[in-house]
Amino acid sequence: MHLHRLEKTWLGIGIAMLVLFLATLGTMAFSMGMAPPSEHHHTVDPRKVAETAPFDKPGMTRIGDHRYEAVMVAYAFGYEPETLEVPAGSRIDFTLTSSDVVHGFEIVGTNVNVMVLPGEVSHVSHTFDKPGEYLILCNEYCGTGHEYMKTTIVVK
Ligand code: CUA
Repeated sequence: MHLHRLEKTWLGIGIAMLVLFLATLGTMAFSMGMAPPSEHHHTVDPRKVAETAPFDKPGMTRIGDHRYEAVMVAYAFGYEPETLEVPAGSRIDFTLTSSDVVHGFEIVGTNVNVMVLPGEVSHVSHTFDKPGEYLILCNEYCGTGHEYMKTTIVVK
């Protein structure tokens, strides 16, 4: 196959730009210490989740008018606390971690879908305007009981 000199030049420029962009992306990601998305980067010792506040007392607290804070621990194969109940129109700020392996936290019918990693604390918020039962599913394969890993939020 014969390549014209100009074709070779343009091919060379294209490859050089690709290498430059990938190198820039890689350098930036490492130098900025990119980590799983989180409002503030929080960590927790995954072996001491049960003794570390706030995960020593998983549950929900009212922090204002239609504002709640839910502290939840994902484990094989469930979530603590088991069910949550809030009045319609409430915003829940979730603080999540895992006490064993990587789990998922997807609230079906909403745009909430986060990974729950051991050692990392994930933060996500959602306002539940419509009454009903919201299913929370684990969407990261975590073992033999993965398909049974779920909980619900009841919005009244
Ligand atoms: Cu937890 Cu799948």
